[in-house]
Amino acid sequence: MTIVGAGMVGHTTAHWLAVDQVADLVLVDIIEKMPSGKALDLLQATPVRGIDVKVVGSNGYEETAASDVVVIIAGIARKPGMTREQLIDTNASIVKRVVEQVTRHSPDATLIVVTNPLDAMTYLTYKVSGFARHRVIGESGALDSTRFRAFISMEVGVSVEDVHAMVIGAHTDKDMVPLPRFAHVGGVPLSHFVSPERIEAIVARTRRGGAEITELVGTSAFFAPGAAIAQMVMAIMRDKKRLIPCSVYLEGEYGEKDVCIGVPVVLGSGGVERVIELPLNDQEQAAFKASVGAVREMLTALKL
Ligand code: APR
Repeated sequence: MTIVGAGMVGHTTAHWLAVDQVADLVLVDIIEKMPSGKALDLLQATPVRGIDVKVVGSNGYEETAASDVVVIIAGIARKPGMTREQLIDTNASIVKRVVEQVTRHSPDATLIVVTNPLDAMTYLTYKVSGFARHRVIGESGALDSTRFRAFISMEVGVSVEDVHAMVIGAHTDKDMVPLPRFAHVGGVPLSHFVSPERIEAIVARTRRGGAEITELVGTSAFFAPGAAIAQMVMAIMRDKKRLIPCSVYLEGEYGEKDVCIGVPVVLGSGGVERVIELPLNDQEQAAFKASVGAVREMLTALKL
């Protein structure tokens, strides 16, 4: 499999994937020599950990040929005070060029899109690749949901293993749709443990989950994004049929068409094998509609 964009998120993703021995890895970046150096560093760690995967780096696409999964992380990351939406022009032209190369060398791949603004870049990738919609998947809810789960676990004082929660909608601070009503701790509804006021506070912190880190570190996050990507790759490569919220092209689900946005899907060897339509209440439905509206507005800025 291939990771295009061997920066912070790219190499962290490679690290998580290598630890789990998910697949042989090819790292691609435009910065000369850098991907080969990072690949070599990771490869040199494999004897210590007993990891049987090959890792190579490249500035081209020859080595990526016939990849089954390609993760697209190439682009610029946001700096403190920036929104993900402000990256659109620069990242759109980068992603377009990358998708053209990737699809030429790996016509049967499943594409995982990570570059921000996420829902717009997933839509762009779907259009430029010409791939079926089940093979173009944006990482959004996978990341936002693990942040939501971490904050719930901290609040409730129960292991993250038992905390299940999801975030759907756009991958933006303002328009993501955390779903506390569907959250549970070992099967017990979240509302049993936490007051409505505290749930609101957790939701607010989840929305700013990425921004909080960007303010602290000075550039955008990488451990959680990398882990969430690895979870998606693993679900596909090992045909795990995991239920994970991801950004996908809708064809009528949730009453929406011709837009990519986060919804719960089942990920397996076929990529997106099912889109799960949740029984949203009026308030959740309204939040999701507003979120779709925000993504559509962003799509108007895309030059396809
Ligand atoms: N082809 C290949 N790689 C590219 C290209 C290109 N055309 N253009 C840029 N890159 C590479 C950069 O050289 C850099 O190494 O993409 C990498 C991005 O890495 P970072 O700058 O470290 O950014 P990172 O934090 O990893 O975020 C990358 O993911 O989460 C999103 O918002 C984030 O869109 C951003 C992306």
